[in-house]
Amino acid sequence: MEPNELCKLAIEAMAHAYAPYSGFTVGAALLCGDGTVYQGCNIENAAYSPTNCAERTAFFKAVYDGHRDFTAIAVCGGKDGVITGVFPPCGVCRQVMREFCGDDFRIYLVNAAGFETVTLAQLLPFGFRAEEHMSING
Ligand code: THU
Repeated sequence: MEPNELCKLAIEAMAHAYAPYSGFTVGAALLCGDGTVYQGCNIENAAYSPTNCAERTAFFKAVYDGHRDFTAIAVCGGKDGVITGVFPPCGVCRQVMREFCGDDFRIYLVNAAGFETVTLAQLLPFGFRAEEHMSING
């Protein structure tokens, strides 16, 4: 799948956001190694901290369905659904990406005109990796 198609699916996912507290809607589209795409949105909560980000919604849906191999994710966000600039994933989402993805995993940051590409190595250098510290996953 072309990056711009994945970005369109992220924009579509934004419309599913449940964000009554911040008004900030976020959409994500996660591309699996086999070509399957999982969309996610942010899901807020009155107690605030149980809020789930769009990226993690997409990852958790995919992992539940048995996927562990991921190629790229497109992410977009904006106040009241309007994209004004790029929206880089939060630290918690970066760590969830690190659990399943390598340095070359691509993150497409959607902006009003198109998208910017960054890698997980750029977003989370020197991250905590289970395979280095806990003798699992190889
Ligand atoms: N949010 C995401 O969906 N992804 C991120 O990476 C960071 C923040 C959501 C959480 C909350 O609903 C809203 O954006 C404002 O923080």
